[in-house]
Amino acid sequence: MDKPKVVLGVSGGIAAYKACELLRRLTESGHDVRVVPTASALHFVGAATWSALSGNPVSTEVWDDVHEVPHVRIGQHADLVVVAPATADTLAKAAHGLADDLLTNTLLTARCPVVFAPAMHTEMWEHPATQENVATLRRRGAVVIEPAVGRLTGVDTGKGRLPEPAEIFEVCRRVLARGVAEPDLKGRHVVVSAGGTREPLDPVRFLGNRSSGKQGYALARTAAARGARVTLVAANTGLPDPAGVDVVRIGTAVQLRDAVLKAAQDADAVVMAAAVADFRPATYAAGKIKKQDGQDPDPIVLVRNPDILAEISADRARPGQVIVGFAAETDDVLANGRKKLERKGCDLLVVNEVGESKTFGSEENEAVVLGADGSETPVPHGPKEALAETVWDLVARRLR
Ligand code: CTP
Repeated sequence: MDKPKVVLGVSGGIAAYKACELLRRLTESGHDVRVVPTASALHFVGAATWSALSGNPVSTEVWDDVHEVPHVRIGQHADLVVVAPATADTLAKAAHGLADDLLTNTLLTARCPVVFAPAMHTEMWEHPATQENVATLRRRGAVVIEPAVGRLTGVDTGKGRLPEPAEIFEVCRRVLARGVAEPDLKGRHVVVSAGGTREPLDPVRFLGNRSSGKQGYALARTAAARGARVTLVAANTGLPDPAGVDVVRIGTAVQLRDAVLKAAQDADAVVMAAAVADFRPATYAAGKIKKQDGQDPDPIVLVRNPDILAEISADRARPGQVIVGFAAETDDVLANGRKKLERKGCDLLVVNEVGESKTFGSEENEAVVLGADGSETPVPHGPKEALAETVWDLVARRLR
């Protein structure tokens, strides 16, 4: 099978260096990438770098290799065009159909999905001109990723940062696999919890679990791609923020409860993918617990943590709010899942089998989604994104 053909457009912003990482991810995962930088992008990263990393020729103008008609061919033959970073200038040209270099010509001739990952200063992003250009591009079916909030060039911080290359890559992968579908969660607010809580014993020790947060991040990323406003409550994860998602970082089960309850007030759906500690140490030692010569250690006394899933299911913040739980089981997976669904009172329960090497930290997952209506939706072994899509399919159906 031919490799999918991706055009990586790079416009002239300092974040151009991050596009090298995106390019590497695209080529290593089996895509044939043609980089089309603008002339200003080459001030930041030179043509030799793009050419070496992509294994393809690089030009910025329509006047090179004219006999091959590159200004038409590159766009016509692409399966995906992604522009990262997309500057305010490139967005404006794309929105108005200007074509004064190879990238803008490519954007006009492409009939495949187009993804823009804007990066610029906050003032430029917020300017009505840019906002109207973004709205125009979205109306025409382009995917414009929301910029991240954080450190910009120099000492400035704010909205306008290029999302992490790993996250832009995930958006590209999804668009290549599924195309640009009608965003069925548009106008919805969803809350996702992810990761594993840590219950401190003293300033240096905690009781924790092996949850990586990858499934919750896949849920958040997928919901954002389907048009939802997403609040991700993240417990101790070391993962890059999914593009266009509000991330609230917490540590313990009690903090997770506060953050989820707050975000759930106006939410259409809440998905509890976090591994919440059922117990926490009864006392917290303000200083590090020391060993005492010749003495056995004191036992650790535990107290129950609140059951957040049961609480939000019993006392819904809004009528019709859809609540999804996860169950990690080692034995009698389905029977235990059914019992847990009833006990927790949620609408859907994603049941997966766990063990030392299964699920935790892995890229793949296999599960059955049980519905309070008696339904059973098996999800075959596959990427965590695929399970996430099934969860949102089931949620979207219940919200309609
Ligand atoms: N959960 C929660 N609050 C807790 C414990 C768990 O909200 N204190 C949520 C998890 O986020 C998950 C679901 O409940 O969505 C199932 O968690 P799990 O630990 O598998 O179930 P438990 O009810 O703790 O049952 P058991 O430990 O007996 O298997």
